[in-house]
This record gives sequence, structure tokens and C-alpha cells, in this order.
Amino acid sequence: QTGKFTYDPGFLSTASCNSTITYIDGDKGELLYRGYPIEQLATQCDFLETCYLLLKGDLPNPQQKGDFVKLVTNHTMVNEQMQFFLRGFRRDAHPMAVMTGLVGALSAFYHDSTDINNAQHRDIAAIRLIAKMPTLVAMAYKYGIGQPFIYPKNSLSYSANFMRMMFATPCEEYETNDVLVRAIDRIFILHADHEQNASTSTVRLCGSSGTNPFAAIAAGVACLWGPAHGGANEAALSMLVDIQRNGGVEKIGEFIRQVKDKNSQVKLMGFGHRVYKNYDPRAKLMRETCHEVLEALGLENDPLFKLAMALEKIALEDEYFVARKLYPNVDFYSGIVQRAIGIPVSLFTAIFALARTVGWIAQLNEMIGDPEYKIGRPRQLYVGASQRNVKPIGER
Ligand code: SDX
Repeated sequence: QTGKFTYDPGFLSTASCNSTITYIDGDKGELLYRGYPIEQLATQCDFLETCYLLLKGDLPNPQQKGDFVKLVTNHTMVNEQMQFFLRGFRRDAHPMAVMTGLVGALSAFYHDSTDINNAQHRDIAAIRLIAKMPTLVAMAYKYGIGQPFIYPKNSLSYSANFMRMMFATPCEEYETNDVLVRAIDRIFILHADHEQNASTSTVRLCGSSGTNPFAAIAAGVACLWGPAHGGANEAALSMLVDIQRNGGVEKIGEFIRQVKDKNSQVKLMGFGHRVYKNYDPRAKLMRETCHEVLEALGLENDPLFKLAMALEKIALEDEYFVARKLYPNVDFYSGIVQRAIGIPVSLFTAIFALARTVGWIAQLNEMIGDPEYKIGRPRQLYVGASQRNVKPIGER
């Protein structure tokens, strides 16, 4: 029959899968990767240890870590042909447009790791993707600013290598700053996985068709780009810059009024979450990292950081936000940290994609590794027209 069905929203929120990778308690604001609290991983481990944990199920011992780091390090270069994909883009192409293309294009080069149903292929694809994402993101950045690409340097750590590929030039070496390298490494850890978010669900659904791992990850990159998801860090920083430009802290009240006005469509970017109805634990760690980086750079009076903290304080006390359980999420402070490090706002979501690649791979492998898995096929509730007959065009 036509007419509106009334259906139980629970129908749409049923768990999409069992998983052993990431646990979130949205009410308590808790996040665990393979049982380890994010607070401990972000302060006691580095990103490649976290990658090992997400992929293998436990933290590596020194030998395992050494072997894994060596494997990743030796796969950081990309095929020389990849640069010609970049040259096809306009210089002002958004880095996420470039990354969506480059990641999918990887499947054209590595035929020994494209069979998603072959565990060895999946393992090789995982190493290649984790290793090459920093190189590709740095290439997208260099291409956009008209500088030559910088090759990875195997003597550097994963995150130091990324910073050097971003900021070194043939004329001048990049002197790695341990605080900044530690900050970007922590940003990678905090963004590594987050259970069944939109882009991870996209990767799972895409991979369930049996497509190659690179194509499935490229689908995740495309989904993450959206401002309601990974694009929120770019939008949050732009929001802070706009408020600062229009009067700064003194004008916060006016901005909050706009946000509360239903007709304005203005959102407090970096606030709210589909799962966290408490403070996103990553946001707390990101705020601490922000403080450390700004202090190390002598920018502790950074006006945007002060504006962000003032905005957070007001929002956390305002009935509109409290009633809707809107708290800062991972994107609220990450932009300020990245901007202080020297990363352009247009690259923020590409860096989110770099970090989330390991989570996407771990989730994809968990699904494909389950002998019971089948191609995904979400269903619908049809609320359209009942069957009817076509009339000749003259009678319509
Ligand atoms: C990420 O899923 C993940 O795990 C994602 C992520 C990950 O690691 O993968 O954590 C990364 O995507 C973090 C979220 C980044 N997005 C943003 O910061 C964009 C701004 N946030 C909103 O778009 C929103 O909060 C969502 C989409 C994130 C969550 O939306 P919900 O939980 O579905 O809430 P909702 O849209 O139903 O809103 C509930 C109410 C509404 O008001 P009413 O209609 O009830 O009056 O809260 C309001 C919304 O209008 N609201 C906001 C708001 N977010 C929700 N009002 C102002 N500012 C906001 N940010």
C-alpha cells in the first residue's frame, strides 16, 4: 500500500557487524583499540605500534616492532609513474580529490596485492597502503604549491619522514622538531580507527564485493571528505578563522545565537557526534597536544586556540548544547594543531585519511577474514507509489 510506514528507528541502528577492533562507549566517552585505552596508546606508543596493534590484535614486542617498521619503511616510495597522475590535476585541486584518485590508482601497479580474498595479498596491500599514504599526501601538497616532490628517507621515523617530505626542499633540509613530530604522530594515533563510522562502513561495503583493497580504501577516502565526517576539521578551523575575523572572542555570543537559530543552518563544527554523547576522549588529548605544540613554538597566546577554548567553555555551559549532548569531537582542536605545525587547512582531511587507512584496512580484513561474509546488501523500507500502469504520453 502507499502511505507512510512508521518504522522503529532501531531497525536502522542494529549492529552492522561483530568486531574485535575498536570499542566506543559514547555515554562515558571511552575509546579502546583492541582493549587498550586511547589515552595510554596516544601517550605511551607511536603510530606504527598502533598500526601493528590494529592489524595483528596486540602490541608488538621489540623484535616484532623492528621487523614491522623495517617492512613499512621499505615500501614508502611510490612507482615513478604515480607522479604523472598528479600532473593531470590542476594545481589548485583539493588534496582529497587528488588522494581519491591516487589511492585508487595504486591498484594499477601492484598486481601481487589486489586479490582481496588472498590473505597474503591483503597483508602486502596493508603494508603498501600504510607506507605510501604519507608519500602520496606529501606529493599532493608539494604539487599544489609548485615544489618538487621529496623522496622518503629510510633513516627517519614514519612521522619524521612525513614531515620532511612535506617541508624539505632540494635547497634546504627540514630540521625535524621532536615536539612537532610527536604531535603529528599522536594525531595519526587518535585518527587511526573509530569502529563503524561512515567511511569505515563504506570500505566494508565496497570490499564485500571482492574489489581490490586499494579501490576499497579509495572509497573510504571519498566518504571521509564530507564536512559531516572527516571534512569537519577543515570546516572547524575555517569557522574559528571566520569568528576571529569578525571580532573574535567578543563576537562568540553572536555566533552562538546563529547556531541556535534553526533557519541559519550554522553548526558549531567540531562539536557533536553520532556516538559520543559525552566528551570525545580524542578531543581532550588533541587539546593537550595543541597546548604542547603552541608552547613549544612560543605561540601559547595563539588567538585561535584561545577562541576555541572560550567557545568550548561557553558551549559546555549553554543549555542548547547541553540538552543535545553536544561536546567537542576529535575535529575541534586538530585543525589548530595542524595549522601550528605548518600544515595548510586544505590538507587536514587528507591527513585524517592517512591516519585512518590502517583502521579501514583492519576492519576490511576482519570482514574478509570471516568465512561467513557475503557481499553487503542493505535493505530498505519502500514507501513509494503502489504498482500502476503507464499511460500514453498524450494522456499524461
Ligand atoms: C567525525 O562516526 C564517527 O566515528 C566519525 C568520527 C570518526 O572518527 O570517524 O568520529 C569523525 O566525523 C566526527 C564528527 C565531525 N563532524 C562535525 O564536527 C560536524 C558538526 N557535527 C554535526 O554535523 C553532528 O553533530 C554530527 C553529524 C557529527 C552528529 O549528528 P547527530 O548525532 O546525528 O546529531 P543530529 O544531527 O541528530 O543533531 C541532534 C541535534 C540537532 O538539533 P535538533 O534538530 O534536535 O534541534 O543537535 C544539533 C542538531 O541540529 N546539532 C548541532 C551540531 N551537531 C548536532 N548543532 C550545532 N552544531 C553542531 N555541531
